[in-house]
Amino acid sequence: EAFDVMVVGSCMTDLVSQAPRLPKAGETIHGHKFFIGFGGKGANQCIQAARLGANTAMVCKVGKDFFGDNYIQNFKDNGVHTGFVGQASDAATGAASIIVNDAGENVIVIVAGANMLLGSEELQKALPAITHAKVLVCQLEVSPQTSLLALRMAQENKVKTIFNPAPDIPDMDPEFYSLSDVFCCNETEAELLTGSSVANLEEAHRAGQELLKRGCASVIITLGPQGCVVFKAQESDPKYVPALAVTAVDSTGAGDSFIGALAFYMAHYPTMPLEEMAQRANRVAGVSVQAVGAQTSFPFKKDLPAQLF
Ligand code: RIB
Ligand code: NA
Repeated sequence: EAFDVMVVGSCMTDLVSQAPRLPKAGETIHGHKFFIGFGGKGANQCIQAARLGANTAMVCKVGKDFFGDNYIQNFKDNGVHTGFVGQASDAATGAASIIVNDAGENVIVIVAGANMLLGSEELQKALPAITHAKVLVCQLEVSPQTSLLALRMAQENKVKTIFNPAPDIPDMDPEFYSLSDVFCCNETEAELLTGSSVANLEEAHRAGQELLKRGCASVIITLGPQGCVVFKAQESDPKYVPALAVTAVDSTGAGDSFIGALAFYMAHYPTMPLEEMAQRANRVAGVSVQAVGAQTSFPFKKDLPAQLF
């Protein structure tokens, strides 16, 4: 079986509290709603690609616990292949404590748990599938060595790669740049990676050119409600792709919705210009910010305008 999109990455159980604002250090505040949801950047991206119609497989590790069992069922419910989903008996399923304020902004602490046990052994088992996939997607919620190895496997076999350097880690291995067909990050990650402010379009242009110079074939910097900027190594002019204005309820996972959609377009429309894919992915992610939670807010193909397909 050949997959359109394979994701080597994380699964987290999201423990979400909605509160009027984010608390300060040492402060306790009242929130108004609590819920548990399926999250983790890797799984979120995979689920979004699947909901748009991609044939997907997830390579990940959860715990042998209630959350892990539930997570595997969630993949099945969304039509994601689970043959490469492992269950560790010596670590818990990853968890993310999330607080969302009334402006739809969030803070997140993740405890990766079983995600950190995903390693070369699991990748070797998935290798035949990875080499036949159309697109491979990685992030930084599993061990960076695991992400590097997966990206190398893909690149050696001419499988298109999307790398999302999230959450940002200090001293990221520079090999990640040359392993990325599309290096996709948000403004905060771009700031950390380049060491300079990314607060407006002009600064985003400078940061994108700098990341390109480090060896990526293309770079996308997402700018939240402002859309994104697309940079290609063979073209000198970056393309600014504005987003439609929407009322944000919860932006958790919006970046993942964007990347999952991008992976879907790269697999299904390989000759479409990257800026066109980015513009469509913006539309998909724009739907996700209008509802609470990560995966709970990700649209299905049937919910979206036909011109996106
Ligand atoms: O990108 C959003 C995700 O980050 C959440 O679902 C949470 O699990 C964290 O990993
Ligand atoms: Na959302």
